[in-house]
Amino acid sequence: LWTPANIIEDMTQKVREQVGNANVLLGLSGGVDSSVVAALLHKAIGSQLTCVFVDNGLLRLHEGDQVMSMFAENMGVKVIRANAEDLFLGKLAGISDPEQKRKIIGNTFIEVFDQESNKLDNIQFLAQGTIYPDVIESAGAKTGKAHVIKSHHNVGGLPEDMKLKLVEPLRELFKDEVRKIGLELGLPYNMVYRHPFPGPGLGVRILGEIKKEYAGLLRQADHIFIEELHNADWYHKVSQAFVVFQPVKSVGVVGDGRRYAWVVALRAVETIDFMTARWAHLPYELLEKVSNRIINEIEDISRVTYDVSSKPPATIEWE
Ligand code: XMP
Repeated sequence: LWTPANIIEDMTQKVREQVGNANVLLGLSGGVDSSVVAALLHKAIGSQLTCVFVDNGLLRLHEGDQVMSMFAENMGVKVIRANAEDLFLGKLAGISDPEQKRKIIGNTFIEVFDQESNKLDNIQFLAQGTIYPDVIESAGAKTGKAHVIKSHHNVGGLPEDMKLKLVEPLRELFKDEVRKIGLELGLPYNMVYRHPFPGPGLGVRILGEIKKEYAGLLRQADHIFIEELHNADWYHKVSQAFVVFQPVKSVGVVGDGRRYAWVVALRAVETIDFMTARWAHLPYELLEKVSNRIINEIEDISRVTYDVSSKPPATIEWE
């Protein structure tokens, strides 16, 4: 009988058999799949699990703190947080080509992840949040979720010298099943049903060269958009929503003065499979509220636009 409780029972059993007394390493991104794996492995093998969470400086507002408070503080999972913002932003300085940005972010992730895991003793297994659709389309470079460790260490892509054996408890599950298991394991609804977030994070939502200043502004604007979507009960009606930073300045008026500041675009889409998508028909009142808040609360943003492009021919992300 397929119930989340049965599946969890079964999976914890299997994991225990597979790893025995060995230690397991997991790259925790804060996304649904790796979070569910963390919760599951914690239940199955407790302190034999160590997670590494890499803060690349391109995460959403408070994301790193939230991951730490949920897993480390609340659940007692061993999580090592690597604060690598300066390293990532340093390597990204001067780079504006989207594919090159992705590559740098991916490689730097591996570098930091390896560095952190090399400090640990006696790790024999690497756990991953691979789910069934990843197994099928493991070749896709731009899938809906592949965080970097996946595309690097993933099915068929294992580096030759990798000594770690894989633990992939979600390999046979679809996304909706993973979510149900997450809830059953006690993860909060808003975590389990969070919109997908690309591996390169805000790095592909800052057009062109990435700067710390831009990431800071984008984080604030994105936070406002998401907060208002929740307030208006629209968050769970759209498949993905976010703000895009445009390194373009536009004029506005504030009080008696002229303001020459940055432009951002709101993006919200409805989709089943992320291969095609329709821009979400958000209520004008909601767009108005978001736009007012962003322009009033963030001094360095003077204009907000709404992206009405569908996929295809546009993509969901702007880069
Ligand atoms: P596009 O922009 O291709 O996005 O229409 C489809 C879905 O994929 C996500 N996306 C990525 N995810 N690494 C990821 O892990 C990436 O480089 C990447 N690019 C796009 C995007 O957020 C959407 O859900």
